[in-house]
Order: sequence, then structure tokens, then C-alpha cells
Amino acid sequence: MKVLIVGSGGREHAIAASAAKSSKVEKMYCALGNAGIEEFAECVPIGAMEFEKLVAFAKEKSIDLCIVGMDDPLVGGLVDEMEAAGIRTFGPRKNAAILEGSKAFSKDLMKKYHIPTAAYENFTDPDAAIAYLETAKFPIVLKADGLALGKGVLICQNFEEAKEGVRTIMLDKKFGTAGNEMVIEEFMTGREVSVLSFVDGKTIKTMTSAQDHKRAGDGDTGLNTGGMGTFSPSPFYTKEVEEFCSEHIYQATVDAMAAEGREFKGVIFFGLMLTEEGPKVLEYNARFGDPEAQVVLPRMKNDLIEVVEACIDGTLDQVDLQFEDNAAVCVVLASEGYPVSYEKGFPIQGLEEFNKHEGYYCFHAGTKLQDGQIVTNGGRVLGVTAKGKDLKEARANAYAATEWVQFENKYMRHDIGKAIDEV
Ligand code: AMP
Ligand code: GLY
Repeated sequence: MKVLIVGSGGREHAIAASAAKSSKVEKMYCALGNAGIEEFAECVPIGAMEFEKLVAFAKEKSIDLCIVGMDDPLVGGLVDEMEAAGIRTFGPRKNAAILEGSKAFSKDLMKKYHIPTAAYENFTDPDAAIAYLETAKFPIVLKADGLALGKGVLICQNFEEAKEGVRTIMLDKKFGTAGNEMVIEEFMTGREVSVLSFVDGKTIKTMTSAQDHKRAGDGDTGLNTGGMGTFSPSPFYTKEVEEFCSEHIYQATVDAMAAEGREFKGVIFFGLMLTEEGPKVLEYNARFGDPEAQVVLPRMKNDLIEVVEACIDGTLDQVDLQFEDNAAVCVVLASEGYPVSYEKGFPIQGLEEFNKHEGYYCFHAGTKLQDGQIVTNGGRVLGVTAKGKDLKEARANAYAATEWVQFENKYMRHDIGKAIDEV
């Protein structure tokens, strides 16, 4: 079959690498793609938000299956447009992608269906938000309602900071229209775990767990980023935690969406916090995580295309989802200065090393081909993933592999997976 992947980051590279293993795939395209995805798919210069062009391309090439990796086109309704044109597409429709697209929606859903999450209030009026903050407990968390590249969350230590935060989100519109509405929620403490799942509208099957490292600097210091590294599985995601989430969170979310007339098909990403009162939902995403996909998909034993088709067809209950009994660690190689400002266009050396070693992957995030040479083209440049029999071995392997690759201004965190030493 002919497959079109929509997206251009490390996550889409991991999806393409996984899909390429399927005997069902004869030809793959990726819009926009990047220099690494090129190995598996023909990259086409159409942006993820250029719906008309994407649909026209899919029709012209008789695409049998479209996989949407990114949040923006999902929330914008690309799946609906593709389906209207008769193209089978993996991902939630617009009315279901709102689970990620509106934090106010997702909080109200959780409240209505008794899914554990932080206590909160939604606001459309900045004065009302500030009045609420006058009697609130600190620290407190402010969240822009809409998509904000993972940066629309402010943790405020006192009233002054929070008041400033309301101004930033709702009046200065730092995150654009994402700040037309705002969630103010209770600050929680605990370990964070990411659990991705496949959903076919009724049935949900969770994948192996993972943990991201969102801050730019070692020891979780510095600014929030798109993610500086991941490990999988999370040793903190115990059998008890899994049982609790299965009983109170996973199926409850799928059922809630169905009850609201918003049948969810695709990937639900549960951002969980393991609090003293038990696991609670921090956020939902309506897609694979990035860089979670880079440690989860390489460990999946199933044919990705078969699972994706089962989600579309509503036959996920017949799929036996299986993961390897090992571990993986992904260390992101970024450009010095990310996430604020950084230079691009530096040649990257050493990529060929990854073809020589089983269980090692170099997923491209921000790269491009320039005059036959792969160069840096973004803040996050590469995601170096390695497997190992356990987390410690996987981490040692991943860090060893980061040395294979060289480019000017290469920056990485040195403590990805350090938390596993505490287990
Ligand atoms: P989100 O985009 O909602 O996942 O938020 C981004 C990050 O902010 C999370 O990964 C947490 O580290 C932090 N965060 C979000 N909500 C809360 C909360 N209620 N309490 C503590 N930290 C939070
Ligand atoms: N790694 C977090 C995300 O994909 O949103």
C-alpha cells in the first residue's frame, strides 16, 4: 500500500522507520519530512497545515493510508478533510482532537466523568481570573487553553507572578488565540509518566510507558523545551499504578469521548503525575509524543500498519499489542541556545555509524539536505536512541552513541534517565 505521513520531526521519523518494517507498505511519502525520513519515504514540500494541497496530493498518488503525526493538523481537522476525499486516515477527527486542542474542554470532560486530575477553574475574563487568584493557594498553575507548542503552561509562586501570568496569556496573547481562554489549576507534585495508547473509538490498548525530560538543562533547570530526552519503560509505572489507571483513567476517557459524541480513533497520550493521592491526568495529547515515540516504537513488536488499520476499522480488540522486554533511551542533540535562539546550517558528521549497529537509531528532528550534505536545521536536531537489556544499559549505549555524531554547537543534557538510579 501507499502511505503518506504528515509531519517533519523525530516522531515522524520514528513512525516512518516503524512503518517501513511492515510488509504491507510498498511506497511511503512524507510531508514535509526531513533529511532522515528521506531514507524511508519520499519527502514532499507540502506543509502540515496546507490541507487542500495535502488532500490533492493524496488523491493524485492514490494514497491508501495517511498517518497524521502532528497536533496542529489534527486539531485543525485534517483527518475530516482526508476522509471526505475518501482517504483512509489515522488520527482523531477534529471533534475528538479537541481533547488536546482545548485544555478547558479536557478539564471539563475529566470533571464530568470523574477522571482524576488537578482541581481547576476555567476563565475567559482576565479580571475574573485575577479575582480568583486573590484567594488562591500558591504555587498555582496557569494554562493557555489552546495549542502553544508545549509552552503555554506557567507555574506561579505567588499572586504577583500569577497576575503577570494572566496578563501574558490573556492580554498580551503571548500564545496567540490559545490564550483566549485559560485554565487555572492546583499545583501537583510527583513523578511524571507518559503513557501512549492506541484507540479505535471503543477499545484502548496502552503501549509501554515512557518519561520525558522537558527542561533544557541538567537537573531539570532552564526553560521548558519540546523534550530533551526520554526513557522507556518508566520504573515508576508499577503494576499498581497501571491497574489504577486502567480502572479510572484509560477506558474512562475513551468512553467519555464516545458518550459526548466525539468518538476518538488514533493515539491518546496520557501525561500522568503520580501524586501521593494516586495517579492524576496532567494533560492529554491526541498523537504520539515527541520524543516519546522515539523510545516506544522501536520496542514495539507488532506491525505498526496493522495496528493503525485496526484502530481505523474498530477491530483493536483483536490485536495483541506487544513490546520487547528491554529498555530504550533517547538523548536529544540540540543546537546550543535552544529553545531561545540558535544557529542553523552546520554540517553533521558520523550519521553512517548508526547503520552499522543493531538497536541504535538516529531520529532526525531538525535537519535538511543541502548540496548533498546533511546540515542542522532546527533547535532540536537529532534524537539518538539506543536499546539495552535494561535502562542502565540502554542509557550507557545511548550516551556512547551521542559521541558518534558531530556538529558545531552540539548541545545535550547529560542526565537523561538519571532518575532510574533512584529505583
Ligand atoms: P502540560 O502541557 O499540561 O503537560 O504541562 C507541561 C508541564 O507543566 C508538565 O509536564 C508538568 O511538568 C507541568 N505541570 C502542568 N500542570 C501541572 C500541575 N497541575 N502541577 C504541577 N506541574 C504541572
Ligand atoms: N513530549 C511531550 C509531547 O510530545 O507533547
